[in-house]
Amino acid sequence: MKSHAVRELRLLHLEDSDLDHVMLLAHLHRGGLRVQSKRIDSEAEFLAAIQNDWDAIVSDYNLPGFGGLFALDLLKESQRDIPFVIVSGEIGEEVAVEAMRNGASDYVRKGNLARLVPALLNAIEANVTRRDKELSEAELSASRQRLSELAQHLQSSIEQERAAIAREIHDEVGGALTALKFDLAWITRHPGSDEVPARTSAALEQVSHAIESAQRIMHNLRPAILEQGLVAALQWIAARFEKRTGVACTLRTPPNVPALPGGVGLVAYRTVQEALTNITKYAQATQVGIDLSLAGKVISLEVSDNGRGFLPSDLAKPQSFGIRGLHERARTVGGWIDLSSSPSGTTLILSVPLHGAPVAASAARGITESADPSRWCEL
Ligand SMILES: Nc1ncnc2c1ncn2[C@@H]1O[C@H](COP(=O)(O)OP(=O)(O)OP(=O)(O)O)[C@@H](O)[C@H]1O
Ligand SMILES: [Mg+2]
Repeated sequence: MKSHAVRELRLLHLEDSDLDHVMLLAHLHRGGLRVQSKRIDSEAEFLAAIQNDWDAIVSDYNLPGFGGLFALDLLKESQRDIPFVIVSGEIGEEVAVEAMRNGASDYVRKGNLARLVPALLNAIEANVTRRDKELSEAELSASRQRLSELAQHLQSSIEQERAAIAREIHDEVGGALTALKFDLAWITRHPGSDEVPARTSAALEQVSHAIESAQRIMHNLRPAILEQGLVAALQWIAARFEKRTGVACTLRTPPNVPALPGGVGLVAYRTVQEALTNITKYAQATQVGIDLSLAGKVISLEVSDNGRGFLPSDLAKPQSFGIRGLHERARTVGGWIDLSSSPSGTTLILSVPLHGAPVAASAARGITESADPSRWCEL
């Protein structure tokens, strides 16, 4: 708040003399301030009054049975954050210094009331600046905390994913190859046996099994479908979602989608993947829409459902990292995520400005789940 912006002041005045109160108001009025004030002169009134909103407190130093420094202590105890200016005829240098040390914003002598308006405005402005600073420091530290939680989560996710991939390779691929080796060894030992055709077909089955497992692992690591462009990848993921969940999923894409800069396709794909996973886990939806659109040079990808929605507090669950991760991912390609939710559904939008000239349009059409090009070696 700039000092010239303070024109109307809510002022609590701790003062036993009505005359001094009126004089103070006259000074403030002459200084260009319109003031809503309340005069009080007892501890009980002070304790009750500071629960209300005031721009500043002006306090006389000496009150019968109650003093400015004591009021300052009470204010500190109450943890109310209101600028406190002492006005007094009798205050000496030492007492003034002590008052400032105890948290008074300023002191003004009754004989020099001309200084009151600037002193008050400065005190208020300093208070607002300090509060803003504290707020942004708190926001910064909360954001650092979130980032560090996310980094830890990512690290443990990587470890878990590695363990899962190792387990899958061991159990699925390794298991099939061991069985294959066993069958081949048997065939080598019994070349003329009648059982050779059966053993051969068992061996072929193991090979197919190993190929399927390898494809699944490869797809999870990096969906090869993305090589065919985002539209193809969205068609594939929408078809797979519908097949797995039985929930209708409508995909709308514009006729010509430019090939996207490196990274954007993967961010878009992972965003849709997380949104669909959340819909499967929480939404209880019966209808899902995925809309890709281009407006100006901003590409938007919207995933909406007609499910039960969530509350803002759900996003702050300590173990929930999906949406937090999406915000970070979007930022890596200069984009952002908008999220809105109500009891009739949730919409998540990824927007990414595309810089530079659009390049060749992707022509992917008619992609289904089985068309994922990570399916190689079809037997
Ligand atoms: N489409 C949705 N419908 C209803 N609730 C949702 C939806 N998407 C998210 N939520 C709510 O928001 C919370 C946060 O989602 P987020 O993806 O960040 O974390 P998570 O899914 O709980 O965990 P993680 O993604 O880390 O495995 C969820 O726990 C859920 O309560
Ligand atoms: Mg999630």
